[in-house]
Amino acid sequence: MSSSEATEAASRNRALWTRLNAKFADANARAQWAREEIGWGLWSIPESDVRVLPELEGLDVVELGCGTAYVSSWLARRGARPVALDVTPAQLDTARRMQAQTGIEFALVEADAVATGLPDASFDLAISEYGASIWCDPELWIREAARLLRSRGTLLFLCDSTLLTLCGADDDHVQERLVRPQFGMYRFEDAEGGGVEFHLAHGEWIRILRDNGFVVEQLIEVQAPEDAATHEIYDYVTPEWGRRWPAEEIWKARKWS
Ligand SMILES: C[S@@+](CC[C@H](N)C(=O)[O-])C[C@H]1O[C@@H](n2cnc3c(N)ncnc32)[C@H](O)[C@@H]1O
Repeated sequence: MSSSEATEAASRNRALWTRLNAKFADANARAQWAREEIGWGLWSIPESDVRVLPELEGLDVVELGCGTAYVSSWLARRGARPVALDVTPAQLDTARRMQAQTGIEFALVEADAVATGLPDASFDLAISEYGASIWCDPELWIREAARLLRSRGTLLFLCDSTLLTLCGADDDHVQERLVRPQFGMYRFEDAEGGGVEFHLAHGEWIRILRDNGFVVEQLIEVQAPEDAATHEIYDYVTPEWGRRWPAEEIWKARKWS
């Protein structure tokens, strides 16, 4: 994808997230910022079960596509120094309101995750939970994450699983059958919402990570817990589906050089 296409994707996604922010962001952010335990994805699987984060004390962290920045708030409370970055001012405004309400402070930066303008080799951990990991071109944001990380730094991101994308119908409700071809999947246009998303097969993720100097350490295929309920906002997949197949996946990779 060219840089003008990336800019076009960013401005479409900014428009979408400005609208979505007005609909639900503050209420959702308030609940997430208040969580005692870190919870991953749609079903808030506790970090104590997943155990994917490194020791956080003193780490310089960049969150790419932070939205309302609750992930950064969790990391800041555990001694990390996050810089939370997003392309949508309305989302950062929500994050600022949460900072004022909670007293948890860290840097909030308005920028495109594919070209952040932040200095080379300035972070130990780059993280994205449904941020750049699905809204930015992987060839571009993974390259940017590699530039931002120090040698041996960790890249951690959560995204829709490949299988969920293959079973996702145009009305957005996930089926119990494959409804899309896997070969060729990359960029997805959301005709209704106007946004642009990116979803890859595993082989493509590994190729892009390796091309940018990363070694994959873990791929966690997230299973919905027994007591999971349908998500209040993101109801495109049922807990029944998520108990049988992975709806989400967490990638952990290390910058090798
Ligand atoms: C689902 S939200 C972020 C998830 C976050 N964990 C949350 O729910 O608040 C997706 C975010 O990605 C941001 N985003 C989309 N394209 C982006 C880009 N090119 N650069 C940075 N952020 C981007 C949107 O503005 C939105 O805030």
